[in-house]
Amino acid sequence: MRTTIRLVAGSLSLMTGFAAGASAGPLDVPGATKALACSACHGPGGQSPSSTIPIIAGLAPWYFKKAVEDYATGRRPSPEMEPYAKYVREAGVDDVAAYFAAQSRQPTAVAVDAAAAARGRVASQQCVVCHGESGRGDPARSIPDLSGQAPGYLRNQMLLFKADRRSPGDQAVKTVKELMKSVPDDTIADLAAYYSSLR
Ligand code: HEC
Ligand code: HEC
Repeated sequence: MRTTIRLVAGSLSLMTGFAAGASAGPLDVPGATKALACSACHGPGGQSPSSTIPIIAGLAPWYFKKAVEDYATGRRPSPEMEPYAKYVREAGVDDVAAYFAAQSRQPTAVAVDAAAAARGRVASQQCVVCHGESGRGDPARSIPDLSGQAPGYLRNQMLLFKADRRSPGDQAVKTVKELMKSVPDDTIADLAAYYSSLR
């Protein structure tokens, strides 16, 4: 926790430095300087190279904003994200959401076990009704895109749903939580492998 806070302070002074010294360039986009602090974990432009930290490049603004609000209020528990979510709210969530939405999204570079992904594909029949055949979700129904996302992150989120630790009381996730309770942990890992392998 202490490390995280020091990191925020460090990034903030870095940003001030940039703002003061910058002339014309990509950092002139209002969200770009505000997003500098995020790259330490989420990678350049939000293209996370990690298995457990989500790719936020190309994230739909409606979903980005919900996530920031949920981390800031503690509805989504994350000691890493809570201070940054609070910072984003203060800095202007619309600018930061617009910046990441405009970044081109590449599928994760983290390789998954092909046999696990094949088992996950079979198990994913119960997810298609909401996330679609392509795994890309449906913004009109507030259902996020899972395709090509970091596998460790997807797995962690499903386990949080199963244990009712992500967004308790949120009606939007009532059904997905009920479903996760019936899915064995091994199958959850297979589903994560499958969705992260989708291109
Ligand atoms: C210290 C590392 C760290 C930093 C810095 C960080 N994040 Fe995160 N972020 C994470 C982790 C870890 C998660 C996954 C947390 C979880 O388990 O829900 C996450 C999740 C997210 C999500 C949720 C994505 C989704 O698909 O639901 C968003 C949005 C996000 N971060 C935005 C940001 C922004 C914007 C910044 C910069 C202001 C930032 N993060 C800085 C570690 C970090
Ligand atoms: C009834 C519709 C529904 C079904 C069925 C469903 N989901 Fe979801 N899922 C959602 C919604 C809605 C969210 C967004 C939660 C939020 O807004 O916080 C979500 C979020 C997720 C997330 C988190 C994504 C992120 O970026 O943080 C994962 C992972 C996920 N679902 C996997 C699955 C899998 C795997 C299945 C099948 C076993 C499944 N879901 C079935 C509606 C559904």
